[in-house]
Amino acid sequence: MGEVQAKRPSGRGRFITFEGGEGSGKSTQIKMLAERLSAAKLRTLVTREPGGSPGAEIMRHLVLSGMGKLLGPDAETLLFAAARDDHVRTVIQPALSQGTWVLCDRFFDSTRAYQGSLGSVPMGVIKAMQRVTIGDLKPDLTIILDVPVEVGLKRAAERRGNGTPDRFEGENLRFHEELRQAYRQIAAEDQQRCVLIDANADPETVAARVWKALRDHVFTLPTSAPTA
Ligand code: TYD
Repeated sequence: MGEVQAKRPSGRGRFITFEGGEGSGKSTQIKMLAERLSAAKLRTLVTREPGGSPGAEIMRHLVLSGMGKLLGPDAETLLFAAARDDHVRTVIQPALSQGTWVLCDRFFDSTRAYQGSLGSVPMGVIKAMQRVTIGDLKPDLTIILDVPVEVGLKRAAERRGNGTPDRFEGENLRFHEELRQAYRQIAAEDQQRCVLIDANADPETVAARVWKALRDHVFTLPTSAPTA
């Protein structure tokens, strides 16, 4: 495998986030990308939100059990923010500064989409929380996986089996349609950072699209390197 040349000075790792609605295939794609980066000899850490650090995993349990909903939209958003603050400080920042590439399943765009566009929390409040929790930290690339709502919900139901839907899977069809639109809007508004990927295809096809996004946005590969 050819050497991967980063566009930005080496030293700090790259921060890549994955976003999308229910059943968009984030975890499969993150796993495939992590394997590909590791094969290219890049140290890679896979993490997720809400959660990713011991403190944040406790808050994950609270929000996904529906406790956050009981507290109301502002407090629920604060729980996500508190989880992110811990995760960034104790896991993401240290890994990046040690040169590790961090692949994160959901990050602040989830708050913008779920609590902002779909919830009743004003964008000003969300941005203020964002300044406190992540400061200047911005993903180098955000992959937004886009699938028709029926496809995503069917995948999520298959994965769940007989288990009960979590706090957000249990929302109605309209919610998921609006969620898809919210993500499309985020992608359109920040084209330098975000790439919207058609994820209604088999995992290998989607992985090739993800790899191309990395090549275009994060690094250049010499011709000897694997091509999508
Ligand atoms: P999870 O089980 O990780 O589902 P998924 O596979 O869809 O990522 O559940 C995380 C849920 O939390 C998901 O429905 C999105 C929601 N969420 C928010 O509402 N706001 C946030 O800031 C984050 C990080 C997640």
